[in-house]
Amino acid sequence: MPQNKRLARAVPLLLSWFQENARDMPWRRSPTPYHVWISEIMLQQTRVSAATAYYERFMEALPDVKALAEVPEEELFKLWEGLGYYSRARNLKKAAKELVEHRGGQLPASREELLSLPGIGSYTAGAIASIAFGIPAPAVDGNVLRVVSRILESREDIAKPPVKKQMEALIAGVIPEGRAGDFNQSLMELGALVCVPNGEPKCGLCPLKELCLAHLHGTADQIPVKTRGKARKCEERTVFAVERGGAVLLSKRPDQGLLAGLYEFPNAPGRLSGPESLNYLGIPGEAVLSLEAMPEAKHIFTHVEWRMTGWRILLKETGWEPEAGRFAPLSEAKERYPLPGAFKAYAAVVFGK
Ligand code: ADE
Repeated sequence: MPQNKRLARAVPLLLSWFQENARDMPWRRSPTPYHVWISEIMLQQTRVSAATAYYERFMEALPDVKALAEVPEEELFKLWEGLGYYSRARNLKKAAKELVEHRGGQLPASREELLSLPGIGSYTAGAIASIAFGIPAPAVDGNVLRVVSRILESREDIAKPPVKKQMEALIAGVIPEGRAGDFNQSLMELGALVCVPNGEPKCGLCPLKELCLAHLHGTADQIPVKTRGKARKCEERTVFAVERGGAVLLSKRPDQGLLAGLYEFPNAPGRLSGPESLNYLGIPGEAVLSLEAMPEAKHIFTHVEWRMTGWRILLKETGWEPEAGRFAPLSEAKERYPLPGAFKAYAAVVFGK
């Protein structure tokens, strides 16, 4: 059977399965373009179960495009804290500003025009177009690539952009009239609940078990084929929790690069001893009340992994002033400043957990 025919046969089975099994999600209850946009960006970095709380808090604070366009960056980052990948939040605001300035605060009902907005790629444009506007556009993410590769028993490398393009074209050819959003979401949902990425797929529960070549041939565990990209670089860093009179030292990262513009505990490359750390910061021994090692921690970014050690440095009231950054009272540091997830282990030491 040709690939397009096999996929076309899957469509009605997917739609009825989705009708019975779709999870309740706040953005599904009211799939406006804005709701779908924000939820899809959040879902690129976290699971549905974790995204829900972020989404609800976000919508309460920023209920529409105009509110997003006007939100101060720090408040936006605070709403995004824990989701990671802050450039996504920054792009949301940038796109919202464009929408307010040029489009009356409305998202465009066109895949191509959506694609022209900052932070909106092929997947997100397709998801907004299909779910919010009913436009027959494909929305192909990793889940969908896995599901479709297995149905077709395709051993093409899904990490290759031309392979993804081919899949998009194949899927575009079978989108059912008037059901584009449900169809796209049925593939995503099947990928999340049944045709799972890690561990054995639950083929016994799958509506496509009689159609899926990987299942029929027992090859689901070999598919999809995905070559690994460049290995992540490992970097050692030493993190400093410098405290004085109920306040903790925070500094702001440069406006470009990793975690651009966010606040952080000061930190240095390498694995520094206690005295080396004081030396690095320029803190004279006389100013120090106590110096205590904090636990090791690691954080994985897209292209780099931080292996961290840390020192908690309690200072006397006088004897040292930082060259950069400021001492923020603990409650303020916790509530006002978006501290990247990379520092979570050290925030727990400082703020108590
Ligand atoms: N993952 C990302 N977007 C999704 C959606 N709309 N439904 C289910 N899973 C998703």
